[in-house]
Amino acid sequence: MKKPMDEEFARRRRQLMRIMGRDAIAILPAAPMRTRNNDVHYGYRQDSDFHYLSGFPEPEAVVALIPGRPQGEYVMFVRERNAEREIWDGKRAGPEGARRQYAADDAFPITDIDEILPGLIESRTRVYHTMGVYHDFDQRIVSWVNTLRAQARSGAHPPQEFVSLDHVLHDMRLYKSRRELALMRRSGQIAAGAHVRAMKFCRPGRGEHEVMAEIVHEFGRHAADTSYYPIVGGGANSCVLHYNDNNQPLKAGDLLLIDAGCEHEYYASDITRTFPVSGRFTPEQRAVYNVVLAAQHAAFAKVKPGNHWDEPHNAAVRAITQGLVRIGLLKGPLNSLIRDGAYKRFFMHRTGHWLGIDVHDVGDYKVGDEWRIFEPGMVLTVEPGIYIPAGSKGVPKAFWNIGIRIEDDVAVTRNGCEVLTDGVPTDADAIEKLMAAA
Ligand code: GLY
Ligand code: MN
Ligand code: MN
Repeated sequence: MKKPMDEEFARRRRQLMRIMGRDAIAILPAAPMRTRNNDVHYGYRQDSDFHYLSGFPEPEAVVALIPGRPQGEYVMFVRERNAEREIWDGKRAGPEGARRQYAADDAFPITDIDEILPGLIESRTRVYHTMGVYHDFDQRIVSWVNTLRAQARSGAHPPQEFVSLDHVLHDMRLYKSRRELALMRRSGQIAAGAHVRAMKFCRPGRGEHEVMAEIVHEFGRHAADTSYYPIVGGGANSCVLHYNDNNQPLKAGDLLLIDAGCEHEYYASDITRTFPVSGRFTPEQRAVYNVVLAAQHAAFAKVKPGNHWDEPHNAAVRAITQGLVRIGLLKGPLNSLIRDGAYKRFFMHRTGHWLGIDVHDVGDYKVGDEWRIFEPGMVLTVEPGIYIPAGSKGVPKAFWNIGIRIEDDVAVTRNGCEVLTDGVPTDADAIEKLMAAA
């Protein structure tokens, strides 16, 4: 039976092969299984590029795309069926399943790859491959090419060029199709639900780990996984950008910063919300919060076709600097504070990144020396923040341990952007109301 994404995978393969041209072959390996400790593995997650082109979920597999090959352009090497192993590890598609369920024109046991693949590479001028990700696999490509070189005197034609596959493929991945946008919308919705659940659950005395458990439960309930290890940081921990101990008790009067997103059918969401543990912002927390929120809105307004990648960041920098001056944490003329980067003391990261199958998704941010221009179908995060650790010189104590980030996922549309994660409020009053009702 055809699954909804089958045609999409096929379309991507056709598009890539059109770009490659007839004298080329593309070779991609599945992600290896990874050991966590001793003989225990991490949960298996397919390689993003491999998934993008095949939808095939098993390890120990290789895809070859060979445009114009009369016997079939889409060749897969996969694990053979094995009744004994399948009792332990679950069902395998096998070569037959790769043809029937995954639309391979031709499929072989992965154990036969050394005999078959050099013959497929032979007489293709260019090999498209992503070097430097899986070192063992790079070596195997070299050995297949060497097999052909050794046979050159008997008339074999080794390839003449290696081309970086990621350059082409990652540009394709930057533009999301309608179906991809639907999956990302769903991913954003599930993650937003988890943040709402965390807000309702949070109260003084509960622990960061308990809040994290609520979030992970909400993801799991919708058959989604985490798209990265969540950050759940109360009080001083809200100022630690990559905090992930998530094991401290939550205190009245503190803020809680949660950066957590899910992966739904391979598509990531990435949301940050910051809210008061007790359900009410202090005046200082609210003042800083509203500066970050204004910066996020200023950045949203710059996400539209024709604008370039750096415009939302520049808008956020301006709004944050202005706000910090108004609150009294920065002093001086606005333009020189911006020019000298005075805001970096409190806002030290950038305002976003591409989002897709990877949470920090692929795609160039610059083309040559110029920032990338937004086009419909691109998806990014917008995540300004202000962090004021305890002991910050010249900052009144009431502002210490205020770490605030507000992060949403947006898709560029024809005339602006669509926020994919608006299922959880950002407005300070709305957050207080939601928490009071819990
Ligand atoms: N959660 C990772 C990030 O916000 O970029
Ligand atoms: Mn992010
Ligand atoms: Mn994030």
